[in-house]
Amino acid sequence: MSMRITVSEDGPYFVEGGVPLLRAEIVTNDEGEAVGWRETGRVGTGESYALCRCGESADKPFCDYTHIAVAFDGTETAGHRSFAETCLSVSGTSLNLRDARHLCAEARFCDRAGGLWNLVDQCDDPEIRALAVAEAQLCPSGRYVVCDSGGEPMEPELEPSIVLVEDPQLGVSGPLFVRGGIEILDVRGNPYEVRNRVTLCRCGTSANKPFCDGAHIASGFREGLEPEQVKAGVAG
Ligand code: FES
Repeated sequence: MSMRITVSEDGPYFVEGGVPLLRAEIVTNDEGEAVGWRETGRVGTGESYALCRCGESADKPFCDYTHIAVAFDGTETAGHRSFAETCLSVSGTSLNLRDARHLCAEARFCDRAGGLWNLVDQCDDPEIRALAVAEAQLCPSGRYVVCDSGGEPMEPELEPSIVLVEDPQLGVSGPLFVRGGIEILDVRGNPYEVRNRVTLCRCGTSANKPFCDGAHIASGFREGLEPEQVKAGVAG
């Protein structure tokens, strides 16, 4: 069976096709800027599994049916318009940046060195251009896509997988970082646009379900693992 994630009505994400499930955290430098990802472990799963979407399971990251007890309202509010239809576009001399702000998961990779929009403005400098590309490619939500001067997207090669995001700097757990173009179906079985980078809400509070909108920070979402367990890649 091919890899697929299906959003269930007021319930979990059903994952099929043996999608690898990993843990990774956002790495910050001494200045407190988000600069990279650190993989911290793999979680054992079967070919199919159900991931908590309400944020309340006692068995996170997996569903334990708590969504029923808490009467989770998982109504999808995101539309099906494509990234190309919803993004803004800004062109520098050797890069084009596309930005769909509503997809932001607040991972903050785009803040370094004055911010990604400013870097694109100065991309005739090779070092600044490289930094702009890196910032865009680190973005988990796919809010940002950089294209070369010929208009070709410059996407990173990503193993098809789901990453449980941790944000140690802010002391919160983040979304499901869905990598490598895995198909995602809504509750009616309609596909969302297949993308290389997407973040799905797992705290239950996004206003753009099923996608993350950064609300896990304000809600202080924690998966429940102690920091040393996260480092060891312990299954939830
Ligand atoms: S995980 Fe980011 S808004 Fe829910």
